Amino acid sequence: MSLFNVYPIYNIKPFKALGATVWDENGQEYLDFYGGHGVISVGHSHPKYVEAIQNQIEKIGFYSNSIQNPLQEAFAKKLTEVSGYPDYSVFLCNSGAEANENALKLASFHNKKSKVITFEKSFHGRTSASVAVTDNPSIIAPINANHDVIFLPLNEIDLVKKAISENEITAVIIEGIQGVGGLDEGTTAFFQELETICNENNVILILDEIQSGYGRSGKFFAHQHHTIKPDIITMAKGMGNGFPIGGLLISDKFKASYGLLGTTFGGNHLASASALSVLEIIENENILENVKQQSAYFIQAVSEIPEIKKIKGKGLMLGLEFDFDVTELRKNLIYEQHIFTGNASQKNLLRILPPLAITSSQIDQFTVGLKNALHSLKITL
Ligand SMILES: Cc1ncc(COP(=O)(O)O)c(C=O)c1O
Repeated sequence: MSLFNVYPIYNIKPFKALGATVWDENGQEYLDFYGGHGVISVGHSHPKYVEAIQNQIEKIGFYSNSIQNPLQEAFAKKLTEVSGYPDYSVFLCNSGAEANENALKLASFHNKKSKVITFEKSFHGRTSASVAVTDNPSIIAPINANHDVIFLPLNEIDLVKKAISENEITAVIIEGIQGVGGLDEGTTAFFQELETICNENNVILILDEIQSGYGRSGKFFAHQHHTIKPDIITMAKGMGNGFPIGGLLISDKFKASYGLLGTTFGGNHLASASALSVLEIIENENILENVKQQSAYFIQAVSEIPEIKKIKGKGLMLGLEFDFDVTELRKNLIYEQHIFTGNASQKNLLRILPPLAITSSQIDQFTVGLKNALHSLKITL
């Protein structure tokens, strides 16, 4: 049987990994500035994380959500401490798309409306409502196209106000910092006005922090740079450092009832143990501080490279903008310099999403590799 061929893949087989280093089956070492698509938060195979998963699987890996799971309680307690959201509750699921799907559903249950405002270049996942609010018609099948969605440009608050005044809007969904779209983000004024206008009109504000959350921006959630409090915050990627888990932080304006949301696998013992250990590592190793310091170091280092026209994003969720398509540059970085980076729908943007415990010397290594790649592509003199 062959694999359903939906991923354009690089010809590399990662075999083992530690921190920000990945080795292929031949022992070739790679520097990971992509974090497996922004997933690796505390570092590949972090010893405490491995230990937590090993210990848990030896006891119990899974049981259903119809029994007590103290690991979920411990996770919720730790998440409160690390994220600063004591008055919110948490619902655990398995992926980013599922988190957004549940967030949109919860909004619609709450205010009994169904039309959603989302933003141009947004990415919110590939399931029914999540893909419908994603700005990429090529991945929206006819079965997904029945949702009522309005796409607006970022940072145009008057257009949001107009859309809310003219329509029955259930929710506005927005990424803390756009990932796939290319690192664009709302301004503080935009986020703050969005919060106000949503509150005034019984519209639920959903912050998709699936990629920008978990410390990646230098704060636990990217929207915390703008001092707003959304109604629902969705998270996934960095949450399990590779173990599949997603979740929603839900404000106290929502009332839970049995059966309102549900999942077989979400928050199972193994997933909760991995997510709890990620939070403990973030806290114990002062990861947020490292993100701030290394972000500043990275920006300083790459700002000396003349081919880089603009640096977008925050923390260790960054985009390097060039005035050419970066496809060949990425290939050179992977195959010649042995550095993983990411792309975006913006073709001239190199996406930088390293593990959050990255060091200055690894950033130096990246900078040398990038200069070499640019040189060998004869983009430099
Ligand atoms: C901002 C954002 N939201 C949602 C998703 C979907 O997450 P998943 O692939 O886990 O379903 C992604 C994935 O890239 C994302 O970047």
